[in-house]
Amino acid sequence: MKVTVIGAGNVGASTAYVLAQRGIATEIVLTDILAGVPQGKALDMCQSGAVEGYDTRIIGTNSYADTKNSDVIVMTAGKPRKPGMSREDLLAVNIEIVKDAVGQAAKMSPNAFMIVVSNPLDAMCYGALKISGFKPNRVCGMAGILDTARFKAFIAMELGVSMKDMSAIVLGGHGDTMVPCPRLASIGGVPLTSLVSKERIDAMVERTRNGGAEIVKLLGTSAWYAPAAAAVQMVESYVLDQKRVLPCAGWLQGEYGLRDVYMGVPVVIGRGGVEKIIEIPLSDEEKAMFKASADKVRATAAETKL
Ligand code: NAI
Ligand code: 2OP
Repeated sequence: MKVTVIGAGNVGASTAYVLAQRGIATEIVLTDILAGVPQGKALDMCQSGAVEGYDTRIIGTNSYADTKNSDVIVMTAGKPRKPGMSREDLLAVNIEIVKDAVGQAAKMSPNAFMIVVSNPLDAMCYGALKISGFKPNRVCGMAGILDTARFKAFIAMELGVSMKDMSAIVLGGHGDTMVPCPRLASIGGVPLTSLVSKERIDAMVERTRNGGAEIVKLLGTSAWYAPAAAAVQMVESYVLDQKRVLPCAGWLQGEYGLRDVYMGVPVVIGRGGVEKIIEIPLSDEEKAMFKASADKVRATAAETKL
């Protein structure tokens, strides 16, 4: 299994490193426009294998020729947010990066499964779909796993319990309009709504919606550890044909009453790429939030003019 990670910045390098540690790829190619950076980071990760006990071939490069015949492409290249910026503010600059990087990578690996991470996520998925010419089941976005992880972390902090026994989901676009669904959250099978007051749940939902911005405010740039772990979970489900049900940005074709739009929904990822989109019966309130989120995603995607 050959995995190419485009962008050797915070998210890309962390993704490559977590992947190496998992030992699920035989070859990892880290590529970037910066001369020396992907090469240096790849060499460092390679040497870490001597300590950690992996032999994965890790290559850093500025040439797409080295990415040829990749099984998976993880697209992380793009500008991250600075404090005060929305993800949508990144559209103009990042769509040009998607055009360049996805265009070149897709030509080299026409049968790859592509995982998009660059922001604004749902619009960049749309851009990657159009630029690559891949079938929609081969282009999927990472965001829902991250947003759900944040929701779970806040629930765990509130209740003082393990995240391991938690089930939760955040739907919708990766932005302020995302749709955390407390109604569907449970801990060890016990509904969240029976454990915490509505006020506390509302506070956790709000913190989840602002989870990315909270970190940007602290760091001056966006998060990378949880985003990388989330992207690797998607790679793993594809490579090992695990058929995991994960909240990811999938291309809706009638599901949830919507067409031709990327939205965060539960998808099954296996060797067929996105093998299925699962529809959850939503309450009227959730339906309204999901629809509002889709409208926002559609408007942002339209700005790509693709
Ligand atoms: P970063 O600035 O650390 O790294 C980005 C890298 O992309 C840089 O090394 C840069 O040289 C490279 N790059 C720029 N143009 C390129 C091109 N044409 N070809 C190849 N490489 C190119 O940024 P970071 O923190 O790694 O974030 C990357 C992207 O991921 C941002 O757009 C950020 O908003 C997004 N992101 C999305 C998340 C999600 O949940 N979907 C979570 C975290 C970040
Ligand atoms: C996040 O939510 C930046 O979208 C990224 O952390």
